[in-house]
Amino acid sequence: MTIKDFISIIESRIPNSIQESFDNSGIQIGPFNQELRNPLLTLDVSEEVVENALELNSNMIISHHPLFFNSFKSLIIDNTKTKMIQQIFKYGITLYACHTPIDKIEGGMNDYFSQLIGLENLEGIIDSGKREIYKVQVFVPETHKEIIIDKIAEVGGGWIGNYSECTFSSSGIGTFKPHEGTNPYIGKYNEREYVNEVKIETVIPEEQVDMLIREIEKVHPYEEVAMEAFPLDRPVFHHFLCRKGELSDSITLVELIQKLKIKSQQKSIRYNGKDNKIVKRVAVCTGSGASLLKDVLNEDVDVFITGDVGYHDFQFAEENGVSIIEITHNNTEKYFPFVFKDFFKDTNAEFHSHSFSFLKEV
Ligand SMILES: [Fe+2]
Repeated sequence: MTIKDFISIIESRIPNSIQESFDNSGIQIGPFNQELRNPLLTLDVSEEVVENALELNSNMIISHHPLFFNSFKSLIIDNTKTKMIQQIFKYGITLYACHTPIDKIEGGMNDYFSQLIGLENLEGIIDSGKREIYKVQVFVPETHKEIIIDKIAEVGGGWIGNYSECTFSSSGIGTFKPHEGTNPYIGKYNEREYVNEVKIETVIPEEQVDMLIREIEKVHPYEEVAMEAFPLDRPVFHHFLCRKGELSDSITLVELIQKLKIKSQQKSIRYNGKDNKIVKRVAVCTGSGASLLKDVLNEDVDVFITGDVGYHDFQFAEENGVSIIEITHNNTEKYFPFVFKDFFKDTNAEFHSHSFSFLKEV
């Protein structure tokens, strides 16, 4: 599998198009035209991570946080970031970031952390927008029906809810007449040809339509492929920025905090609210979620767990009867390598993980 092939697979399962407007997920450097070798998964990119990639003979680093996030206007010699970029180019390492798409997607960072801390009856909260869905239909000789359906499945088409590979086939007779300059797979020059064909229909998010068409054209036997793609009226996919769920039993706030200390391996935890307050309904936003506090207050929860919380965020939550429990940014997101790997366990990629974090705690 080449690096480019792997990036196509990543984006068919965790689409870049669902990233937040402030984000910069996707290719950071590259992609270099090589076979994928020992991809290295990490929360952040650092000199230490690049060195680790070189030791592993890896040619791809996949980080949660994009290296290029805030804009910068110069590459100053001897600056740490400049040196890293030089090393990455020198050794031809492709750098890819998978940030807010994997936060939001089902089975991603928010779901993983919510399940880790024992939340049940999980649901997405704070809708971050709908994705338009397209119908794609392709006409193919009966002999090639399975090849096309396999290709649709491979690129991630045909998802409806939790069902994959959804297609519909109907049979009929196709006609065509080859003219000058053609080299038909079936049929003769200047004669009308009748072929038993199948129309295969499927659905796919708008941003993947072009890729699906390109991939079908690669395996379709005809010189000119009859295909149609058009938007459906009914958008079916939603993505949510946070999750909410319930603890299996009602416990006190301080008991929940003690449990979280163990789960997250965080030595001290900041929070607001009475220690003996009974809690059960919990909202979660991995990483930095304080800016979503006002939306979370509409969700009828007792507790909001997130990182990067300011003093006045705690105060505002307190005034509105909700407790914030702060698990630091890196302690909710250090699981990125496990979460990412899980999406691609069916590939033959030999993943490695790096547990670097520049943030320390004593
Ligand atoms: Fe983050």
